[in-house]
Amino acid sequence: MSLSLGSPLSLPCGAQINNRIGKSAMTEGLADAEDNPTPEHLRLYQRWSEGGAGLHITGNVMIDRRYLERAGNVVIEDDRALQQLSDWAKAGTVGGNHLWMQISHPGRQCPRLVNNQPLSPSSEQLKLLGSFSRPQAMNEAQIEDAISRFARTAEIAKTAGFTGVQLHCAHGYLISQFLSPLTNKRNDQWGGSLENRARFALRAVRAVRDAVGDSFPVGVKLNSADFQRGGFSHEDSLQVASWLEEAGIDLLEISGGTYEQLSLLGMEPNEVRESTRKREAYFIEYATAMRGATKVPLMVTGGFRQRAVMEQALSNGEVDMVGLARPFCLDPDLPRKLIAGELDALPCHEHDLVLGKGWLGNNSPLELIRGINTFGQVGFYYWQIIRLGGGHHPQPELGVWRSFWRHTLNDFRLNQRRKRAAS
Ligand SMILES: Cc1cc2nc3c(=O)[nH]c(=O)nc-3n(C[C@H](O)[C@H](O)[C@H](O)COP(=O)(O)O)c2cc1C
Repeated sequence: MSLSLGSPLSLPCGAQINNRIGKSAMTEGLADAEDNPTPEHLRLYQRWSEGGAGLHITGNVMIDRRYLERAGNVVIEDDRALQQLSDWAKAGTVGGNHLWMQISHPGRQCPRLVNNQPLSPSSEQLKLLGSFSRPQAMNEAQIEDAISRFARTAEIAKTAGFTGVQLHCAHGYLISQFLSPLTNKRNDQWGGSLENRARFALRAVRAVRDAVGDSFPVGVKLNSADFQRGGFSHEDSLQVASWLEEAGIDLLEISGGTYEQLSLLGMEPNEVRESTRKREAYFIEYATAMRGATKVPLMVTGGFRQRAVMEQALSNGEVDMVGLARPFCLDPDLPRKLIAGELDALPCHEHDLVLGKGWLGNNSPLELIRGINTFGQVGFYYWQIIRLGGGHHPQPELGVWRSFWRHTLNDFRLNQRRKRAAS
């Protein structure tokens, strides 16, 4: 039987997702000064839920309030915000969809404004516009503490009514730092061989599984590769995927890249294979190889913009779910329209979100220009998320320069507000 975007998907844990469209995680930056969900989260996720995707994944929720990916992240360390979390879960499932919480620790990708002594497997500093301090290499107790926090956060997500969790093992965050030889220089049981580098991911997945039980969906977002020389390779990724299957995950979302190599957004694809670059879905070929390594249902995210390409990937058996992120910021109703065949191509602004063109573009040799383009592009989508959370329509005419400044000032304001609340 040929699969369509409207076909349901059964997961190994027994849960069912009612169609093949998954909204991938997008950090919201909407939490209050105490890192709790707000009415803006409810409005945003209700709006998205009504759009008809079978699966929604929240933006990364942090497991430790000392270390954030950015101010405005929701943090869950205990059940103090259970009511707000339950309200969020309820609003985000009005359409009968799944709502999974993405749980994460930023490791060294924790901005200086949040904490100037982040943690990481080793003390390799992230050099990006001076925004990140040199991390402290984690000791054994800090590693064990982080693993148990993943489990605790997942347990609270389940209690609150989220219908699944996803561990963020991609994009250069803590778990991905353990996986990569470039950021993991340890020579103890947590570093060195791939088996050792994958130990943290597998321990965290098993701890989460023990905390939520066998019938609750547990997903993982994993890089197909970091696309950096000497980093987490595609061969590493295939092996880790098969270990994750043994550890009992239900859905593997494939992405790629880190802050230093933004392949996840289709930017700076210096080392992405030429054939992959020609196709709109950035990681589809990697997913095809993944099929040989694991039987876990696969969601592939990054670059899908045309219905025909999505349908082809499903009917060819390359993916089980189509993952989409940025287009949801501009058209929350796109799942329903895609499934009904009313929409052929999704809104796509990323190619215009570049300062100038040519030498000023994504591949500019100037770090400052690349930084402005990166923060300007994500700032554009952050702004659309703020608009949707406020009950307003998206504002697609915003340019990269204004997006950059709006994001920079908002980020500074959120950090100040958080610091005032803590003092
Ligand atoms: C504004 C923004 C926020 C994002 N936040 C997250 C996040 O919290 N967790 C995550 O795994 N990926 C995050 N991503 C990456 C997306 O989930 C997705 O992998 C990427 O945008 C590629 O998919 P797309 O081409 O459909 O947008 C974010 C992307 C954007 C644009």
